[in-house]
Amino acid sequence: MTADLKTNFIIEKIKESKLPNADFSNLIFGRMFSDHMLVADFIDGQWQTPKIMPYQALTYEPSAKVFHYGQAVFEGMKAYKDAQGNAFLFRPDENFKRINQSAERLGMPPIPEAYFIDGITELVKLDKDWIPTGPGESLYIRPVYIATENAVAASPSSSYRLMIMTSPAGKYYSGDVKVKIEDRFSRACDGGVGYAKAAGNYAAQFYPTEKAKAEGFQQIIWTDSAQHKYLEEAGTMNMFFRIGDKLLTAPTIPESTRILPGVTRKSIIQLAKDNNIAIEVRPIEVNEVIEASKKGDLKEIFGAGTAATVLPIVGLKYKDYYTDLPKQENSYADFFKNKIMDIQYNRVEDPYGWRVKVD
Ligand code: COI
Repeated sequence: MTADLKTNFIIEKIKESKLPNADFSNLIFGRMFSDHMLVADFIDGQWQTPKIMPYQALTYEPSAKVFHYGQAVFEGMKAYKDAQGNAFLFRPDENFKRINQSAERLGMPPIPEAYFIDGITELVKLDKDWIPTGPGESLYIRPVYIATENAVAASPSSSYRLMIMTSPAGKYYSGDVKVKIEDRFSRACDGGVGYAKAAGNYAAQFYPTEKAKAEGFQQIIWTDSAQHKYLEEAGTMNMFFRIGDKLLTAPTIPESTRILPGVTRKSIIQLAKDNNIAIEVRPIEVNEVIEASKKGDLKEIFGAGTAATVLPIVGLKYKDYYTDLPKQENSYADFFKNKIMDIQYNRVEDPYGWRVKVD
């Protein structure tokens, strides 16, 4: 993929960059936004020319449908800089496919590829100096797509807006992460919107996650809504369980409509297959993991997501059972994290074509 622009973007550059006043020394995820953003409107059945302009507040009427019915989907992506100062994206085609899969489920019109891919390319080129270069740092890219019609009838909107902003980012989690298996609340059901990156899917975790935090756990792992028997995903990432030397992860669409098909998850599955790590993508019973833990066979749990990257979990709670998960010597989490980051930061050849140069 190249920056061969198929769309004429209107580009209004910022008069004075905010960069000299930006403090990169203590990056807190998603708090600081770079100079520019993209806005593209869908009005009367037509996409309008996208505009790249200074990051700014936009006004909406209280009747805008997104406020009432949550007709909103989003994406999470990152731009990385290598030692020579070149910028790269990681599998942007996957995010493009997924945002339109999410949009379809929420009854929203598809976003043109040129707006999304070329829009992000253009934004990253303009704000390349905002890509931080410390270990594990990157420029987080957040496309969000919302219903903008001013009407409160519960029906699909007639107008929509795609906005893309970028934010210099370090680690998503600053400390150790312990998880609690959630056995009361649910995130998704069969045939629901669980596989979509719908805004409300994330709001659904806030209340149970706050409760878990009060008990000392930073994240919950959802279980299926019908029986609370199978492990699904965590609040901000997909999950992997290592029992002995076998890796397990739950299936996503088409096998399950409840779980987000994560790009990091998909990359790990591919890397496992190509590096002779036994992996099973199948429903995982909570009891299977707890029994393995009791027998000493549960070696590792880790999360996988764009924001979280590959995140080892250090403790697991289920009902009255708790176990620490001490770091393994030959940790799979470290293995996958290094493999993926080496590709993202252009430290190794990329046999998969996952890394896309922004130039
Ligand atoms: C991401 O990993 O990019 C996500 O969108 C998860 C979000 C809750 C931070």
